Amino acid sequence: PATTHYDFDVTVGKGAPDCFEKDVILVNGEYHKQIEVVQGNILEVTVYNNLPSTWPLVSEGISIHWHGFSMNGAEWYDGVGYLAQCPIQAGTNFTYRFQVNEQPGTYFWHGHAGNEKVDGFVGPLIVRPAGPEALTYDEEMVLFLSDNYHTSATALTFPLNRPFDAKKQTNETGGWDWVAVPQSITLNSHGFYGDCDLLAGTNTAIAPKCNVTTQWVPPGRSKFLPYSAVTNPGCKRENVTVEAGKTYRIRMINAGSLAYLSVCFADHNVTIVAADAYPTNPLTVPCVDINLGQRYDVLLKADRPVGNYWLSAVVVNATRTGSPAGYGVLRYAGANASMLPTDPIPQPESVAPWTFGTVSKITLPKEYLDPKTLPKGTILPFGQASLAPPNATKTLLVNLTQPLLPNGQLRWALNNVATFGTPTCAPTLDLLRRDPGLMARDANDTRLGKIPQDLAAKQMGNDFEVPMYLEDGSPAPAMPVAEKDFMLLIKGDVVDVIVQNLAANANGGDYRPGVGANRTAQEQHPFHMHGHHFWVLAYGLGHFDEATNSSSFNTVNPAFRDSFTIFKNGWTAIRFKADNPGVWILHCHTDWHLFMGQKMYFATSPELAQAPPADLPKCPATCMYNFGPFTPS
Ligand code: C2O
Repeated sequence: PATTHYDFDVTVGKGAPDCFEKDVILVNGEYHKQIEVVQGNILEVTVYNNLPSTWPLVSEGISIHWHGFSMNGAEWYDGVGYLAQCPIQAGTNFTYRFQVNEQPGTYFWHGHAGNEKVDGFVGPLIVRPAGPEALTYDEEMVLFLSDNYHTSATALTFPLNRPFDAKKQTNETGGWDWVAVPQSITLNSHGFYGDCDLLAGTNTAIAPKCNVTTQWVPPGRSKFLPYSAVTNPGCKRENVTVEAGKTYRIRMINAGSLAYLSVCFADHNVTIVAADAYPTNPLTVPCVDINLGQRYDVLLKADRPVGNYWLSAVVVNATRTGSPAGYGVLRYAGANASMLPTDPIPQPESVAPWTFGTVSKITLPKEYLDPKTLPKGTILPFGQASLAPPNATKTLLVNLTQPLLPNGQLRWALNNVATFGTPTCAPTLDLLRRDPGLMARDANDTRLGKIPQDLAAKQMGNDFEVPMYLEDGSPAPAMPVAEKDFMLLIKGDVVDVIVQNLAANANGGDYRPGVGANRTAQEQHPFHMHGHHFWVLAYGLGHFDEATNSSSFNTVNPAFRDSFTIFKNGWTAIRFKADNPGVWILHCHTDWHLFMGQKMYFATSPELAQAPPADLPKCPATCMYNFGPFTPS
């Protein structure tokens, strides 16, 4: 196969994606660099970490995750810091090199060692088919969506680590503090951070959400300042230019850290034709609700009169009132380029109510379900003849919980296991590959010295299993499976995972037993799984009940995706085939929730993993092993 090579010279520079100048991470001087590769080619990316020693996250190092790639047979290049590799430290380089056996479609790459993605280390990644394109359209474009903070990721995560105290929940008083809403939404890396103020006057429905005086900002944090064209001459609004009569494939990517977006083109419907790279039955919608980590390929037909139309990306998260929206212009060639649209700005709340109605309607086209009609180049889970879902062999019920640790830190947890950190002496995959029994041992087994039974990083001193409480204050029962943050799978297992987002989620509310009658979930969670695409069987509200709810599973033509939303006070059921030896993370793609521990791992027959590449980055720490000579990678 041919090799597609990129050099990534990673540095820090000044950027003003939304007109506010700040330090951003750049690749070869570019912000949000886009890359492409043809299916079947070897992708080779040499990452030179040239971050300056003054960069706040310099000691964390960097890594790259190929979001949505299954990495089958390429388990060492998945890019999660300390899971498959140690981070690439400043002044060193590392080459990712693997064959791209992935479905042609829309993906993105991003840093995954710490929070470097939030500072700009992220960009589109397109996989082109080796032969002709299956979809029909005239032109294509990327719509790379992100939220943007004016503060560095380090500064934002610092208060998330402080002890939680309901009375001191502010930055000023030194307590736990939430990151608040982003300062802007960018479209193709451009936006205006004061846009809501500029537009508030023209649209009363948007005005209350964008009002600087009613904006909730934690004490000590600055409010959104109105954009000034005088002091920010270089910044611009994104214009998406089309020619009348043509059909466009728009590759939408939500690469943000908090904002669940509803994206609308005024006066134009769009048709969803792919979700997370895999094709879907065409679904025509007025607005596309796209959560963090998700991608939609949509077709837009430029069939309206030549003119300028608003393009809006409005934040729809349940609890994020006060979020600014992002605005661009859909401009027909020949329209007056100096004019803004005169039509009203699209209103997603009234046009497309935010509900799981739309996502639950996304299904697989029937040609993908039959081996005889399967389009050439379709990537299937190993051993499958088509994309028809097999029957499950294992079920895991995951409750999203939010424990308070004995040391006062607030954490997100899955089934009450707050995972915060991993061993820093070797990639977890390397440890498990040599001794999968590591995971089976009990908590008191200290034969491995500093490595705990489930590799839950007790060596870092902040990993705990904490009982949670139900609404009435009684202790939560033990969960049915996976009391640890690792689930050991055997290659070939077919696993149903049901993620439940209910009242155990206090999310900043009162978590104490018996206190806080209204402890319902306050937010949805955009989950993503590494190493696999999975079938999305069903979304539901309320408490998942196996007897009644499993009959609602779509086991005929469910969407085949790598990202899914767990709606507020609801549940989502997915099914995946554990065909990929390695250690794979399932986590919330809200960066701040991931930081707080909202993740777990699946270890699939790790003993079948390949030996690590000799040039895998060196790990910073050392530790003791008693299962034979060990050289940390
Ligand atoms: Cu895009 Cu682990 O994430």
